[in-house]
Amino acid sequence: MFASSIVLFSFLACFVLCVSGVENKILEHNPTSLPDYAFTFAPYSYLHSSELYFPSDIVEHLQNTIPEINFTAIAPMQNLSTLDSLPSTAFLTSVDDPLTNPAWLTSIANKPDSTGYSHAPATIIAVEKGDGIVDVFYFYFYSFNQGNFLLGVVLGDHVGDWEHTMIRFINGDPTAIFLSEHSFSSAYTWDAITKLNGHPQVYVGNGTHANWATPGPHSYTVPFGLLADQSDVGLLWDVTLNFRGFWFDNSTSTFTSAGGIGIGGSEQESETTSWLLWLGLWGDEQYPSTDPRQYDFDGQFKFSSGPTGPFDKNLGRTTVC
Ligand SMILES: *[C@@H]1O[C@H](CO)[C@@H](O)[C@H](O)[C@H]1NC(C)=O
Ligand SMILES: *[C@@H]1O[C@H](CO)[C@@H](O)[C@H](O)[C@H]1NC(C)=O
Ligand SMILES: *[C@@H]1O[C@H](CO)[C@@H](O)[C@H](O)[C@H]1NC(C)=O
Ligand SMILES: *[C@@H]1O[C@H](CO)[C@@H](O)[C@H](O)[C@H]1NC(C)=O
Repeated sequence: MFASSIVLFSFLACFVLCVSGVENKILEHNPTSLPDYAFTFAPYSYLHSSELYFPSDIVEHLQNTIPEINFTAIAPMQNLSTLDSLPSTAFLTSVDDPLTNPAWLTSIANKPDSTGYSHAPATIIAVEKGDGIVDVFYFYFYSFNQGNFLLGVVLGDHVGDWEHTMIRFINGDPTAIFLSEHSFSSAYTWDAITKLNGHPQVYVGNGTHANWATPGPHSYTVPFGLLADQSDVGLLWDVTLNFRGFWFDNSTSTFTSAGGIGIGGSEQESETTSWLLWLGLWGDEQYPSTDPRQYDFDGQFKFSSGPTGPFDKNLGRTTVC
C-alpha cells in the first residue's frame, strides 16, 4: 500500500512535470493577436492640459531625421524596414532645427480627440514570462521631450522620447503596474492605482512625458537640483484605439507581429518587425558646448541625446521594476 502510493505519487509527479514541460514549449498565447486583457485593462493616459509636444508616429519621425554619427550623415533617410541596418551608435538627427518647432516635432495634429484617439500609433508589446505571467508594455513615442525649468533655465530637452507603462498579468488578471519616470521609475500594485472603467489612470508630465500615478506636481532630483513635472487630468489618450502590436519572445530575442488597430494596424501589415531590434538612438546627439543652442548648467545640459527604443527597456525583466 505504502509502496504503491509512492509509485502512484511518482507517476503523478512525473505526469505533472511532463505536462507542464510540454505546456512550456507550446505557446500559451495566440501569436497572431494580443490577448483581450491587454485592452480591457490598458492604461488611460492623460496628457497635460498645456502640453505642446504631442504623441508622434515613428514613421513620420523617420521621414524627418537622418542617421548621423558624430554629427555627420552616415546613410540616407531610413524607414522602419531599413532601420536595423544602421549601427547602434547612430543618432536619428532632426533635419530641422528643433528650436523652430516644426509641425512633425510638436505633432499637434496628433492631439487626442474627445474619444481619446490620437493619429499617432502607440506600440504595444506582450511578453510571456512562464507560470501564467504575461507582461504587456505600452510604449508611447513623442518626437520631442521638453525638459523642466531649474532656476529659470530649461534642462534636458531632447529629440525623440520613448516612455512606457507595463502591466503584469497573471493568468489574465492584472496584478501590478510599472510607470517610467525619467531615469528612475515606480511600480504599484493593481489595487493601489486609481482607475476609470477598469482602466488604470496615468498622468503624463508636461513636456517630459514621464508617467505618474497621480495628477499634480511631481518633484524629482537631478544631481545638482530639484526639478518638477506638472501633470493634470488634461487630454485622455487611449492607446488601444491606434497601435502596432507585437509579441516578444525573450528566449530568442525575436519580435512577431500581433496585428494592430487604426493607422498603426494598417501600417504594420506592410512593415517588418526588424526596427524593434535596432539599438540606436531615436534623436539628435547631445549638441557640443560650442553649439549656440546648447548650454551647460553645472554639468546639466539644455540639450541631451535622444533615447534608445523599446528593445533596450528590459522587456525580459523578471521582477516588475
Ligand atoms: C568627431 O568629429 C570631430 C570634428 O570633425 C573630430 O575632431 C572628432 O575626432 C570626431 N570624433 C569621433 C569620435 O570620431
Ligand atoms: C524602405 O526603404 C527601402 C529602401 O529604400 C525600400 O526598398 C522599401 O520599399 C521601403 N519600405 C517602405 C515601407 O517604405
Ligand atoms: C507646459 O509646458 C509648456 C512648454 O512646453 C509651457 O508653455 C507651459 O507653461 C507648461 N505648463 C505648466 C503648467 O508648467
Ligand atoms: C530574459 O532573457 C534574459 C537574458 O537571456 C534573462 O536574463 C532573463 O531572465 C529572461 N527573462 C525571463 C522572464 O525568463
